[in-house]
Amino acid sequence: MTRVAVIGAGPSGLAMLRAFQSAARKGEAIPEVVCYEKQANWGGLWNYTWRQGVDENGEPVHCSMYRYLWTNGPKEGLEFADYTFEEHFGKQIASYPPRAVMFDYIEGRVKKAGVRPWIRFSNVVRWVQYHPETRDFTVTAHDMVKDSVTTERFDYVVCASGHFSSPNVPEYPGFDTFLGRIVHAHDFRDAREFAGKDVLVVGSSYSAEDIGSQCWKYGAKSVTSCYRSNPMGFKWPDNWEEKPALVRVEGKTAFFKDGSSKDVDAIILCTGYRHYFPFLPDDLRLKTRNRLATADLYKGVVYVHNTKMFYLGMQDQWFTFNMFDAQAWYVRDIIMGRIKVPEDKAVLLADVAEREAREEASDDVKYAIKYQGAYVKELIAETDYPDFDVDGMCKAFFEWKQHKVDNIMAFRDNSYKSLLTGTMAPKHHTPWVDALDDSMETYLRN
Ligand SMILES: Cc1cc2nc3c(=O)[nH]c(=O)nc-3n(C[C@H](O)[C@H](O)[C@H](O)COP(=O)(O)OP(=O)(O)OC[C@H]3O[C@@H](n4cnc5c(N)ncnc54)[C@H](O)[C@@H]3O)c2cc1C
Ligand SMILES: NC(=O)c1ccc[n+]([C@@H]2O[C@H](COP(=O)([O-])OP(=O)(O)OC[C@H]3O[C@@H](n4cnc5c(N)ncnc54)[C@H](OP(=O)(O)O)[C@@H]3O)[C@@H](O)[C@H]2O)c1
Repeated sequence: MTRVAVIGAGPSGLAMLRAFQSAARKGEAIPEVVCYEKQANWGGLWNYTWRQGVDENGEPVHCSMYRYLWTNGPKEGLEFADYTFEEHFGKQIASYPPRAVMFDYIEGRVKKAGVRPWIRFSNVVRWVQYHPETRDFTVTAHDMVKDSVTTERFDYVVCASGHFSSPNVPEYPGFDTFLGRIVHAHDFRDAREFAGKDVLVVGSSYSAEDIGSQCWKYGAKSVTSCYRSNPMGFKWPDNWEEKPALVRVEGKTAFFKDGSSKDVDAIILCTGYRHYFPFLPDDLRLKTRNRLATADLYKGVVYVHNTKMFYLGMQDQWFTFNMFDAQAWYVRDIIMGRIKVPEDKAVLLADVAEREAREEASDDVKYAIKYQGAYVKELIAETDYPDFDVDGMCKAFFEWKQHKVDNIMAFRDNSYKSLLTGTMAPKHHTPWVDALDDSMETYLRN
């Protein structure tokens, strides 16, 4: 029997399981699917833990999420086309759910699909090897509950281990003698820790914006953010200042490229993440930057150097859950023989080059959103994943971008219409700045 290994039970890995399960439900014969998940539960980054550093097994903690995290884009842009928010919650809910609400939604679909028995929890994949003579793989995993190592054979491997977990941690002169706390966004957990403090946030992307906003919301005395390339440029509150690149620190003082300085109690490095696959050998390991056109992936999912190896969710992300679905359905259909991957490697490489060139053709944000929307459409056109209004989602993203420019501390107070059900989301009962309790119970009290 054909066997498929899926590495990771986050949104991407779960999309893979749901894709196979939906084919099985239609009466089709599917391969045996084994999903290895190193955490004790599913949900990937959305499975929150208070732990930092290493987990209960001594493995690197996967979670990069934190208390009080709300989605940073409208939920109407990530809705599953086969499982709406209304189906899950029995009503329409406001547009920017906190993490716990999102976790419940992610879990709802896979509980309904009944795929939990396919997952081996607390199983860390240690090594994957391809055997050219038998054209198959072996996957070696450490079961942390049984404390035993298994090696099993598979015909295909789908890597869905995420790429926002292994932190990119630069060092600046003076860090080793800084008189305060230095932490990377990956280990940031509770903004209340920084109440009353002067906080420096390094970076100018989503983590910098959101972690700075969290610290501000939960009572930091001041926030200073600094950028290496481009400022975020929002209209910040009075006690938030944006500065050019950090150069060095001395004692408690941070010095910036324009010669200015600021005394700070804590430095939060929002400097992004690395694609990191310690369980993959050179011939299978993806090496790419965080971008829309990943290196070496035909159609964004098939590894060009071994077409029995797939990657899900390795792109930078405007679209998330429904893009992972589009990818998973596409990979499923390759594995089930319905979609043919060209045999000529030059064709695969040309596909990658074309995607890269098209991405690089413009720096415009709307262009990038439309680019990824077109990719989602390209994949779903070839499978039976339910068609949905991708252009409508792009439009929602454009509006979201404008809302942030209008008021960075209030963009989450806006509502959007579901592109799946046509229902308008209700206005949330409390403005985001005043909503300190992020529990599901409180959020759903509409
Ligand atoms: C701070 C933060 C906030 C975010 N907020 C949003 C948001 O608001 N909206 C949004 O749409 N997206 C958001 N994202 C993007 C996020 O990448 C996706 O939502 C989604 O979690 C990606 O799913 P994934 O399955 O590809 O990866 P992950 O969620 O990272 O899941 C990967 C899984 O693989 C497992 N794994 C890793 N290595 C191994 C191994 N060796 N063996 C076994 N299992 C392994 C991990 O334990 C994990 O469960 C956010 C990301 C971050 C970092
Ligand atoms: N739900 C939420 O609210 C939420 C919150 C946080 C994050 N997220 C998600 O998490 C993902 C990752 O976002 P991210 O912001 O962590 O990563 P990112 O988008 O990759 O951005 C990394 C940032 O770090 C900077 N940087 C990298 N190396 C640096 C260095 N050596 N010195 C100074 N700056 C450096 C980059 O600057 P350059 O521009 O110069 O390269 C960039 O500003 C995104 O998908 C995002 O949507 C969501």
